[in-house]
Amino acid sequence: MILKGKKGIIFGALNSDSIAWKVAERCVEEGAQIVLTNAPVAMRMGEINGLAEKCNAPVIGADATSMEDLENLFTKSMEHFGGKVDFVLHSIGMSVNVRKGKEYTDLNHEWMLKTFDVSAISFHKMLQVMWKLDAINDWGSVLGLSYIAAQRVFPDYSEMAESKALLESFARSFGYHYGTAKKVRVNTISQSPTMTTAGKGVKGFTEFFNYAETMSPLGNAPALDCANYCVVLFSDLTRYVTMQNLFHDGGFSSMGMSPALIAEK
Ligand SMILES: NC(=O)c1ccc[n+]([C@@H]2O[C@H](COP(=O)([O-])OP(=O)(O)OC[C@H]3O[C@@H](n4cnc5c(N)ncnc54)[C@H](O)[C@@H]3O)[C@@H](O)[C@H]2O)c1
Repeated sequence: MILKGKKGIIFGALNSDSIAWKVAERCVEEGAQIVLTNAPVAMRMGEINGLAEKCNAPVIGADATSMEDLENLFTKSMEHFGGKVDFVLHSIGMSVNVRKGKEYTDLNHEWMLKTFDVSAISFHKMLQVMWKLDAINDWGSVLGLSYIAAQRVFPDYSEMAESKALLESFARSFGYHYGTAKKVRVNTISQSPTMTTAGKGVKGFTEFFNYAETMSPLGNAPALDCANYCVVLFSDLTRYVTMQNLFHDGGFSSMGMSPALIAEK
């Protein structure tokens, strides 16, 4: 029960494959109270209602690119909790160019801006709304989910690579301001490839998933283990961890050459 008495908001639970879905379940199991949120279009699919019932959590819709929706979400959540929150998970990603199958050398830049807005700028918007509404308690914890394409080239990940680089940078920069003002920590977790709706949207995902599985000494980190890592980072056991991009990838990020992969050839 390491989150006993804590209150949090979880963005991005679309279905039971979603990383955020597992985070919501684990946070509640560890004693937290939560509010669930997703884009109105995702909520219309209805699956989140089952999770809400299981977690005894209200669902408050918000397009994470809309300051108005975010203000409404944090205001209503504080009303619901009768006070500020202690943790927030931003688990949001979407690329318009990947969805439409555009090659990296032929991207539509209007779509690219939309991708950045949904996948990265929404993180800054969320933090800014929290800041202005003073919505998080001292020593609170904010997490975003990233991927190693922010540092290394994964050609089919396309403009999501730049989105993740931007996301990680926002975490560092806002982490400075929130840390000095309120002891609030802001981090990103760089997660292994995971079989989710967003993950499977990337071209050649299955092959890539299998490649990373072999490359990583521990194998790919499953969504449930990512959720466990989030729980620890929301807890008081990690109060001085901030402005970090934390790899949760079975060791993939430290590998150079893999004998197991060569043996497969
Ligand atoms: N699946 C992977 O391989 C992998 C690896 C590393 C990092 N991540 C990251 O994990 C996070 C969660 O993705 P996932 O893999 O669980 O997939 P997912 O498809 O289950 O979740 C993505 C979520 O983003 C939400 N979303 C999209 N546009 C939105 C908007 N405008 N406002 C609010 N919500 C919006 C979707 O409704 C969905 O719930 C993303 O940031 C993703 O990039 C995923």
